Amino acid sequence: MFYKIIIRFFHFIEIFIFSYWIFNTKKIKSSENFNAFWRFRTGYKFYKNTQKITSGTSYKEHLAMALKIIEGHLDNIEGDIVECGCWKGSSSSNLSIIAKLLGKKLIIYDSFEGLPDMEISDREASKYNRGEYRGMQEEVKNNITNYGCIEVCEFRKGWFKDTLSSHSEKISLLFIDVDLEPSLNDCVKSLWPHLSNGAYLFTDECMFLNYIALFFSESWWKKNFNSTPPGLYGTGLGIPLLNLYVGPHEIRSEYYNHRSKGVGYTYKGSEAVWNKTYE
Ligand SMILES: C[S@@+](CC[C@H](N)C(=O)[O-])C[C@H]1O[C@@H](n2cnc3c(N)ncnc32)[C@H](O)[C@@H]1O
Repeated sequence: MFYKIIIRFFHFIEIFIFSYWIFNTKKIKSSENFNAFWRFRTGYKFYKNTQKITSGTSYKEHLAMALKIIEGHLDNIEGDIVECGCWKGSSSSNLSIIAKLLGKKLIIYDSFEGLPDMEISDREASKYNRGEYRGMQEEVKNNITNYGCIEVCEFRKGWFKDTLSSHSEKISLLFIDVDLEPSLNDCVKSLWPHLSNGAYLFTDECMFLNYIALFFSESWWKKNFNSTPPGLYGTGLGIPLLNLYVGPHEIRSEYYNHRSKGVGYTYKGSEAVWNKTYE
């Protein structure tokens, strides 16, 4: 009992330490708009939103994306924010707050019917069911209206294979949280060309090595973009977000009070290539 109280207290205090610390970068420090009060307020709001709206991701992941969106904005990286996979709209609400702050649009792609039928070749399929993670469009809209900034959001409903090919806007940050291999394939294939140089691609499923191997697959990048793979920061365990986790993800129940929640990212211009031969 005492132990539980200590852990809860630690997680509460952590919200403020984390929100202050994550924005402590050279670029953001030199801009006066993101002072300590703004950081605490934003961090607490993000945390609260993930408690109010059922969420598949943590407020820390959302703050990590906010950091890169703001830094990108200060570096004049052009483009809107795009989210593929919103569920109930928790990550969308927090992303919409940053979009509004910086005068950007948040474009949300989702079926609003949950996950599609599983494909036999998909190695992730056995973990999920059709229709899982369903958030109806009205429900998502209400959540963003109550907790985020609905006025900057645009909803594009449908299966990714049907909707993403007509995307036309430049992207400064793309968040992909779509669970299945064909869904990830469709999102990266259709939207990568729209990322501005230096723009970020974040993904929640960074712990699953087979899944995330797409970002290291020389044949996939050669075939689709005639380029080398960009790699992914946070592969296997997620980028460090003040979480204690040794991993791997598959045996997380063996690690009492460790947290395996994490996010990974790459950016347009990143490269991960092994092109040497040594005897
Ligand atoms: C894990 S949930 C997203 C969680 C959300 N980002 C959060 O932080 O709470 C996955 C979402 O991806 C969507 N999705 C997955 N594959 C899809 C596809 N092929 N077409 C459209 N939507 C898809 C589902 O409808 C679901 O809303």
